[in-house]
Amino acid sequence: MTGVNRGLDGVAVAETRLSMMDGEAGELTIGGFPVEELADNATFEETLHLLFYDRLPDAEELSEFRADLAARREVSEEVLAVLQRAADEEKPGMDALRVGAAAANLGTEDGDPESDALRVVATFPTIVAAYWRYREGNDPIAPDPDLGHAANYLYMLTGERPDESAVRGLETYLNAVVDHGLNASTFTARVVVSTESDVVSAATAAVGTLKGPLHGGAPGPVLDMLKDVHESGDPEAYVREKLDAGERLMGFGHRIYRVRDPRASVLSSAAEQFYDGDDDFFETIDDFEDVVVDLLSEYKPDRELATNVEFYTAALLYGVGVPQELFPATFGVSRVGGWMAHALEQLENNRLIRPESEYVGETNRSWTPLAER
Ligand code: ACO
Repeated sequence: MTGVNRGLDGVAVAETRLSMMDGEAGELTIGGFPVEELADNATFEETLHLLFYDRLPDAEELSEFRADLAARREVSEEVLAVLQRAADEEKPGMDALRVGAAAANLGTEDGDPESDALRVVATFPTIVAAYWRYREGNDPIAPDPDLGHAANYLYMLTGERPDESAVRGLETYLNAVVDHGLNASTFTARVVVSTESDVVSAATAAVGTLKGPLHGGAPGPVLDMLKDVHESGDPEAYVREKLDAGERLMGFGHRIYRVRDPRASVLSSAAEQFYDGDDDFFETIDDFEDVVVDLLSEYKPDRELATNVEFYTAALLYGVGVPQELFPATFGVSRVGGWMAHALEQLENNRLIRPESEYVGETNRSWTPLAER
């Protein structure tokens, strides 16, 4: 072995047809489409079909696929009881999603990874929405099979039929973040199935990986930051204070991108309409981005730090009406589509993923009996 690569930067461990990034050019391709084209046009079901079967469905296939997914949305009373407990104890949404994903898919594996994978994707919105309803002191709302995946998620959260612009906004978000190469949570999912474990275990482990603030946990703190900046009216002073204290600015920097994350542009365009005629909140967001990028280049001249996807995730999901506490879990509602497609892809041509470590501990110790230590 020749040294340790602590973050596995630049190491390819899988071939994939699902997504591809160019970090220098700021480009993302999902299932062969530029993210800008896919995110704005597709329904989430079309994107999922594209990832699972490598092509867009025709009208008949799409309606069958939608029905297949909708038929798998329900979770049992026992699962609801677990989610109620998570809500009563005010556990974070990601913890509820982790326990819910495992419980909702316990004992229902039919041994067909593809069918299991679809069920996992279908149950995620139901789990998150039920948890949230309990958190708010309400009863959960049963999924409506006549609504699409995105619309049904909003319906189960609020109890009201969402308007078209909110559905389109959410659909754009779900499509834009569904897959992104071998990010940490997707890598987790592939490692799990590479042991010939199952797709439910892969999804549960991936939720745990997504939870961290260096991955999917950033947009909540981004929104807090935007609200603080909006109130303070002095973005530069705010950013300098954070950077002087050695803090990271959430929503900036990326392992792959050296320029603005292409998803930031997609989400920013989709978010803008929700702030029309409102106060100047969106302008604050826009201006704040420029201030942060300038100051990051001053403070970190050796590192090109630009806006990542999480910055405008906060703006878009806030605009669509998703509660801030659910931002990471809503990322999971989308990314589970990528996790499951990667898990199936890994199984098609599996090899156990098993890297090495470099030992830096002691050797040749001799045992001292307890009484003599
Ligand atoms: N604010 C301030 N400084 C930063 C930031 C940031 N957002 N991001 C990186 N840096 C600095 C680091 O402090 C480090 O500086 P140093 O060399 O002086 O110590 C340098 O840039 C390199 O940082 P690394 O951690 O090596 O870069 P890495 O590629 O591992 O980081 C990461 C990527 C984790 C996303 C990082 O940019 C970060 O922490 N961003 C903030 C959290 C965030 O937005 N997370 C969401 C990521 S997007 C997603 O997962 C969907």
